[in-house]
Amino acid sequence: MKNKKNISSVPSASVIPVALAGREYDILIGQGLLENAGKLISPLLLSASPAAIVTDENVWRHWGGCLAASLDASGISSAPVIFPAGEASKTLAGLSSLYDGFARMALGRDGLVIALGGGVTGDMAGFAAATWMRGVRYVQIPTTLLAQIDSSVGGKTAVNLPYGKNLIGAFHQPKLVIIDPVTLSTLPEREIRCGMAEAIKYGAIRSSGLFNRLTGKTAGFMEAIGEIIGECCRIKSEITERDELDYGERMLLNFGHTFGHAIEKMTGFGSHTHGEAVAFGMTIASGIGERAGFTRPGTSAEIRRALAAWNLAPDCPLDPAELIPLLSSDKKNEGGMSRIVLLRRIGEAFIYKMPFSEIETLLKAPADPLKNSSEGGWQ
Ligand SMILES: NC(=O)c1ccc[n+]([C@@H]2O[C@H](COP(=O)([O-])OP(=O)(O)OC[C@H]3O[C@@H](n4cnc5c(N)ncnc54)[C@H](O)[C@@H]3O)[C@@H](O)[C@H]2O)c1
Repeated sequence: MKNKKNISSVPSASVIPVALAGREYDILIGQGLLENAGKLISPLLLSASPAAIVTDENVWRHWGGCLAASLDASGISSAPVIFPAGEASKTLAGLSSLYDGFARMALGRDGLVIALGGGVTGDMAGFAAATWMRGVRYVQIPTTLLAQIDSSVGGKTAVNLPYGKNLIGAFHQPKLVIIDPVTLSTLPEREIRCGMAEAIKYGAIRSSGLFNRLTGKTAGFMEAIGEIIGECCRIKSEITERDELDYGERMLLNFGHTFGHAIEKMTGFGSHTHGEAVAFGMTIASGIGERAGFTRPGTSAEIRRALAAWNLAPDCPLDPAELIPLLSSDKKNEGGMSRIVLLRRIGEAFIYKMPFSEIETLLKAPADPLKNSSEGGWQ
């Protein structure tokens, strides 16, 4: 985290700048920031037209009043655009309902969209903002742990199609990210655990220190959650700054996601949360890495231990025959090969192009490490 500062009369916030030329913004992290959101957002307004608060029905019930009151206190008029909670809303139809809301309030090109909610809200509101009148400004106010450490940062926005996750989307960076850990107080425990799966992912790919901190769940852990959020956002912002459009290093953030997305698709985007699917995916990817001889033996067990500390015990009885066709429709594929993220060890990851045939063999192989694969290549 770069520094701490007081923003006018707002409580002390940690600030992580995201340095993207022409599209730079700050991530602010601090207790009590939501009730001061109006003061933070006010300098971003281009006009007096109402801001659209895009949110789902759960988040609106818990936190909508707090945000609306804060905007009102700063003289910002706003209108909510509320959709049914859950991944099932992240569709073209769900998106269309947001456009209806924007049209009803006559949101202009100088308007502002505020995404208040989890990753579903952020992805949908961000994509709606990217496309409404060819692009309007937006602010992310993430309220799930997953969204606070991951989806609200980096500007990836999308909706799903029946063929796969996030197949329609755009890169559209927010103007500001406001993270108030207080909002996690109403988040169901299952959702906290899902966020922890993504935090464990950051540790696995980039920071053994963070990984070790997450492995031993200690009493009072949630009191230090702001530090964990900050560490994850710092890793994500550094990677995004170097590879905004996801042609190289940023793909490391997909550790566990290739398999996780396939599992979400297999289960119809509903029975498993995104975080649970990623937890499955990380154990599959680390197991494959070990069996192919790329990953230090025991790494997969370390990941399972970390996940187990958060009651994420991924035993996914996957039938490779079912998984492979789903993998082959992933948008990151190239000619019979899948780009998957493998670990060398905890804290160090790399991207590897692996033929589907080899993935299938490794998925079926016993746990004994094999020698390095014959096909595919290092990146
Ligand atoms: N854009 C990216 O870079 C990126 C990265 C990772 C994940 N994602 C996307 O994020 C989505 C998953 O996000 P998610 O797990 O946050 O799901 P979500 O937005 O559906 O939120 C999970 C549930 O928690 C509820 N909720 C949210 N905040 C709450 C609060 N403070 N109190 C009480 N309830 C609350 C929601 O209503 C919902 O029921 C997936 O669609 C995934 O593809 C995007």
